[in-house]
Amino acid sequence: MRCVAGVVVAMMLGAGAPSAIADGDAAAGQSVFNRCKICHTIEEGGPPKQGPNLFGVYGHPAGTAPPGSLHSDALAQSGVVWDDATLTEWLKAPSRLIKGVKMTFRLTNDQDIADVIAYLKANSPGAD
Ligand code: HEC
Repeated sequence: MRCVAGVVVAMMLGAGAPSAIADGDAAAGQSVFNRCKICHTIEEGGPPKQGPNLFGVYGHPAGTAPPGSLHSDALAQSGVVWDDATLTEWLKAPSRLIKGVKMTFRLTNDQDIADVIAYLKANSPGAD
């Protein structure tokens, strides 16, 4: 319950503060995602590249969405579930969040991170 209340408070605060960095913009995130595209596809059923297809990744446990993608054991056995907090940590430093993973790319700009997470969310049916 504490968690749900926190989300409601965050939404109320967010509504009055359009410039807050934590508010990701999916449209801006689409351009940020251009940098991910050498290694990831995002459309449903898209092929894995160096990294797994990311359709539906938001809200799912790491290394499980979608089925058939390539993952390291480290990722699949991490127990991490992808949400705003874990994705933020991941995009800043993948191997700091989960030891032994194969993604070395990282983002440094907080707004880029929030935007690309909003874009991942927009491409994850059921995540709102
Ligand atoms: C140089 C290649 C490369 C780039 C660029 C890259 N990634 Fe990755 N990514 C990977 C690899 C490889 C994995 C799988 C890691 C593993 O299995 O250990 C991965 C895994 C992931 C996962 C976890 C997927 C899952 O099924 O749990 C997410 C989320 C992710 N990347 C997001 C991004 C985003 C967002 C960007 C752009 C901001 C990005 N990546 C850029 C290579 C890359």
